[in-house]
Amino acid sequence: MNTPDFIIVAIDGGAAAGKSTTADALSERFHLLHVDTGSFYRAVTAELLRRGVRHDDLPAVRAALAGIRLGTRVTGRRAGIELDGRGVGDEIRSKTVNENVSFFAAIPEVRQALFAYQRGQADEARRHGFDGLVMEGRDIGSVIFPDADFRFFLQADPLERARRRVAEGQQDAILERDRIDSSRKTAPLTCPPGAVAVDSTHLTREEVVARLATLIESRLNRP
Ligand code: DC
Repeated sequence: MNTPDFIIVAIDGGAAAGKSTTADALSERFHLLHVDTGSFYRAVTAELLRRGVRHDDLPAVRAALAGIRLGTRVTGRRAGIELDGRGVGDEIRSKTVNENVSFFAAIPEVRQALFAYQRGQADEARRHGFDGLVMEGRDIGSVIFPDADFRFFLQADPLERARRRVAEGQQDAILERDRIDSSRKTAPLTCPPGAVAVDSTHLTREEVVARLATLIESRLNRP
């Protein structure tokens, strides 16, 4: 690959695997728009819960989704979702959202509602003058951008991941979320064939970033 003028980096992995800190560092290093798709599923979940919609009431989920207009606000290097013109805040990291997001994310209609929106983030990145985008989630390298220039899958020991969440002050049953995210029928959490898997259990965040950055650089600089 000769140095492309726009690159797409996909980072998938389970909860608290280190995706966000890694994506943030790569976005700075390579001047990429950082897109956290977990925040999109969280925002939609928070909104559906706010409207009193239950995840086992499919007609209500469908009706509510049809009425929500999605937009994007770019702040610094990050893309934030807007629902009906409103941005989202810390409420998307609440215990209630943690407990419900995997159930809503397993619904094909919810995933479908976010599919084109997520792919459209590449246009958003171009419009804002970035050199590409780094998108993190569960199905980025498998479903959203299977054609991404770089596809990474971050793993870490469950105990270490749980420790990281507690250190962030969050109540989050990450193993239960991973179980639901991995076993759903539509776009399950999985390391797609051809993606580079990195186990971060015994690595510092700087070491993880360095490993991914080196791989990106080596291909970008190839004559
Ligand atoms: O990355 P996160 O932990 O904030 O993601 C929250 C939930 O959203 C996660 O448990 C599953 C869902 N999700 C998904 O199904 N697909 C994505 N691409 C990103 C997140």
